[in-house]
Amino acid sequence: MTDKLIIFDTTLRDGEQSPGASMTKDEKIRIAKALEKLGVDVIEAGFPVASQGDFEAVQAVANTIKESTVCGLARALDKDIDRAAEALKGANSSRIHTFIATSAIHMEHKLRMSPQQVVEQAVKAVKRARQYTDNVEFSAEDAGRSDIDFLCRIIEAAIDAGANTINIPDTVGYTLPNHFGQLIYKLRERIPNSDKAIFSVHCHNDLGLAVANSLSAVMNGARQVECTINGLGERAGNAALEEIVMGVGTRKDAFDCETDLNTTEILNCSRLVSNITGFPVQPNKAIVGANAFAHESGIHQDGVLKHRETYEIMRAEDVGWGANKMVLGKHSGRNAFRTHLEGLGIELNSEEELNRAFRRFKDLADKKHEIYDEDLQALVTDTLATESEQIKLVALKVCSEIGEKPHAHITLNVKGVEKTVASEGSGPVDATFKAIETLVKSDCNLLLYSVNNITDGSDAQGDVSVRLDQNGYVVNGQGADTDIVIASAKAYLNALNKLLTPALRKHPQTAAI
Ligand code: KIV
Ligand code: ZN
Repeated sequence: MTDKLIIFDTTLRDGEQSPGASMTKDEKIRIAKALEKLGVDVIEAGFPVASQGDFEAVQAVANTIKESTVCGLARALDKDIDRAAEALKGANSSRIHTFIATSAIHMEHKLRMSPQQVVEQAVKAVKRARQYTDNVEFSAEDAGRSDIDFLCRIIEAAIDAGANTINIPDTVGYTLPNHFGQLIYKLRERIPNSDKAIFSVHCHNDLGLAVANSLSAVMNGARQVECTINGLGERAGNAALEEIVMGVGTRKDAFDCETDLNTTEILNCSRLVSNITGFPVQPNKAIVGANAFAHESGIHQDGVLKHRETYEIMRAEDVGWGANKMVLGKHSGRNAFRTHLEGLGIELNSEEELNRAFRRFKDLADKKHEIYDEDLQALVTDTLATESEQIKLVALKVCSEIGEKPHAHITLNVKGVEKTVASEGSGPVDATFKAIETLVKSDCNLLLYSVNNITDGSDAQGDVSVRLDQNGYVVNGQGADTDIVIASAKAYLNALNKLLTPALRKHPQTAAI
């Protein structure tokens, strides 16, 4: 009998801590539903004490998700634990995840507590969480740099207090695969009650080793991996879910455990998360990058045509590639549109939302003959995002000609008032952004601008991501259109609108300090 490897997804919590990746409640619900369809065991939905917005998002996910366990993060503090328990009340299956730092550097400089005080606070927190649920996870933050004797001591006490999952985070991405695997092995060996808990790992990617460290831990007895879609997360990110799942699934010979995810949903989740957060997926990203299954060299192509396994270790269709055929076109009706969205796991909240999305679909179908799943995902994100926007794009005309200075003529609706302006720039996108700034005067710095094609062909929609910084607040914006200058304007406005949404301005963990 092989063990089950529990997949704990923290895209909505740790993933959201990436600069600019804040999500609205509705966006979190959309991603949670996609994760449920993917079959993840645990969804960490947020950090309820961080803000009212985070609380409501965790509550909404808890009330919506039926198949996966929904988890809320809490520091080892009464108020955090009570707030997490309150947010999770409506869940079918819930977990409270409480944590405290255990490395000497964190205890001394951040917590300013003695090791004895840290153990006491951890025990108290686990006991309090157990009053609300019998599913409690304890994390020893910065375990990767903690003293092993102290880890044994605090983990034994946490298990005694009622924690049934013990998470060993490599919070700063410092460990190496061999050492980290050994750490898990030794902890399980040395802690007398280790058999009463599942050992979990949570690795950050600062040295590019998050997946390798997690897999090494699994080889040494870890039975839960915390990970995120596309490896999104604080700084260099977390271990990428798709790489963990396909690593374990492809190398069955090396692991004595398996996951039970519906891997064909991986690509769908990856696109949705990228689309909502504005973090593009690099083309050479394993599993979900555009080139992950593309063979360029003649020798490789020849080999694959003769016998697929010569150069392919996984089947592209097993992670969702190739499933996205032309789905709808100009003549598709409202019912076909709705049914297709449902098939993608997208349920719109009202008839009005459906009508607005359908109108956009018709506009798009006029410009682009074949509409694919990816187009629909982007279209719905766009429709929902613009619903509550305070600054809307009304009209845009750009002029770009060899030998002439490009200029943009833009009309925006700013909080109900239409304003028009023209601006020059070094190119049409620069002129458009300058025109927007002339009207909005946000004084933001543009940190990132990227354009990707959503599907193949020159009639494809361009998917533009921008990242703006306004006095230290970072937000991402996303826009899609067959015209990339319009897509760029939409992305810039999407980011500006986020800056105007107080709930999205806060970084979840700093908000709680
Ligand atoms: O990286 C980390 O240590 C965390 C904990 C809260 C689990 O995210
Ligand atoms: Zn983390």
